[in-house]
Amino acid sequence: MSIPVFSTIAELADWRAGLAQAGSSLALVPTMGALHAGHLALVAEASRNASAVVVSIFVNPLQFVPGEDIARYPRDLAGDLAKLAETAADAVFAPVPEEIYPDGPGSTLVRVAGISDVLCGRARPGHFEGVATVVAKLFNLTRPDVAVFGQKDAQQLAVIRRLVKDLNFPVRIVGIPTVREASGLALSSRNRYLSPAEKARAAAIYRALTAARALAQGQPAMPVPPLVDLVQTVLSEQAIDPEYVAVVDPGDFTPLAMVRRDQPALLAVAARVGSARLIDNIALNP
Ligand code: PAF
Repeated sequence: MSIPVFSTIAELADWRAGLAQAGSSLALVPTMGALHAGHLALVAEASRNASAVVVSIFVNPLQFVPGEDIARYPRDLAGDLAKLAETAADAVFAPVPEEIYPDGPGSTLVRVAGISDVLCGRARPGHFEGVATVVAKLFNLTRPDVAVFGQKDAQQLAVIRRLVKDLNFPVRIVGIPTVREASGLALSSRNRYLSPAEKARAAAIYRALTAARALAQGQPAMPVPPLVDLVQTVLSEQAIDPEYVAVVDPGDFTPLAMVRRDQPALLAVAARVGSARLIDNIALNP
């Protein structure tokens, strides 16, 4: 069955008004398209949390930073719609940039201070402002009860949770576990940039994360440097030089010096493999 695709805010608003009239709840799955099994898992989770699901497909110019080539970002609307037709998605919102930013991107920006400035935020200054701004706009346009995001983008998830809390958006945020290939490589639209050989090398990222988790597990407390060293050693076997390896509090992304059994800790990595910038993370304790 084909899904209604709205390219304008007016069409989306009409559909949303119909849902409100029928008393139906709505879950939003925001995406930039080039959908893979990880996105489809977001849609499945969304359908468990609301009676209707809308998927947004929008390559947001505001979250690309100078030096990043938005034109090169993978786009495949026809393929995305074919995949979504097999899911519980009820509608797709796929606007052009002029619909979302009629005066050009950037006049009003939403900035979540602190979390946005470290790790990926330091490497990509302005990126999380772009994400927070478009997500705030998507929340205002779709008025979802629930929005679903992947834990692979753990820093993005933390930024959005903080955005919702600080700006009182009446939206429940659900995060779902990362979907991986059999090799452990986290699914990402950017994996399309990897050759088969680069994919095999990139699988070292998850091997490194799980090795560090195994080292930390079972210890009541452990300093962070040996964990970071272990990740770097495993990555270096595949000639991967990480942009960062860090252990942080998953709530606010402040760096941790110790991993303790009773305190949440997230080990996060960013690394370039070939022309792809890949990120991944793992919880070091329950
Ligand atoms: O994770 C993404 O695909 C994007 O950052 C998001 C949340 C859709 C905002 O453009």
